[in-house]
Amino acid sequence: MSLIEDLNWRHAVKAYDPAKKVSEEDLNKILESARLAPTSSGLQPFRVIVVENQELKEKMVQGALNPEVMRDSSHVLVFAAWDSYSDEKIDKVYDHHTDVRDLPRGRFSSYTDKIKEMYGAQTPEEHFAHTARQTYIALGLAMAQAAELRVDTTPAEGFSNEVVDEILGLGKLGLKSVSLLYIGYRDENNDWLSHMKKVRIPMEEFIIKM
Ligand SMILES: Cc1cc2nc3c(=O)[nH]c(=O)nc-3n(C[C@H](O)[C@H](O)[C@H](O)COP(=O)(O)O)c2cc1C
Repeated sequence: MSLIEDLNWRHAVKAYDPAKKVSEEDLNKILESARLAPTSSGLQPFRVIVVENQELKEKMVQGALNPEVMRDSSHVLVFAAWDSYSDEKIDKVYDHHTDVRDLPRGRFSSYTDKIKEMYGAQTPEEHFAHTARQTYIALGLAMAQAAELRVDTTPAEGFSNEVVDEILGLGKLGLKSVSLLYIGYRDENNDWLSHMKKVRIPMEEFIIKM
């Protein structure tokens, strides 16, 4: 199967079969694809929280656009970004980089000094606008990996960030939710999108050649 076939196979599922669970093996591949996503300066300023516990899901549906989709999914992946950058966080990431690569700590200090100065001049709101954007490549890769495994997904921004942050205690971790990814197996009889054609604008409109 090619990536294009996988992307044509997938759609944002509107009804899951609550009896079908994603295996640990497939879940780990989906999470690994998110972990391998590139990020600005390699900071990986977000985490993915895996929610399988039904009681937690029942609480998180409060304020969600598609409560039944969240409820019946096998797992909910919460993409949650750092609420701010700090010198300490940047140093921690770059110490890890140099340690993994057997380089002396501080090897990249001329670069990290520059990004510390840049983020030091910004507000936490500006930081979060940037860290939140970093999550979307990982979200896309997770969806693509899931599709290759024929695991269904629904990306979702239609939920209450306040409710999810509160229920999962994300504030204490210095994180704020950005998006959710419901994963599981489609319920073909109730998923109204299952038998519909994929709709995208034509290539000649989408691509602007100059
Ligand atoms: C960032 C993002 C947020 C989305 N939020 C929701 C959502 O809250 N609820 C929902 O049913 N679909 C949501 N979608 C799904 C889109 O509506 C869907 O991907 C789009 O219509 C294209 O259709 P397809 O994914 O089925 O090909 C979201 C998609 C993305 C990428």
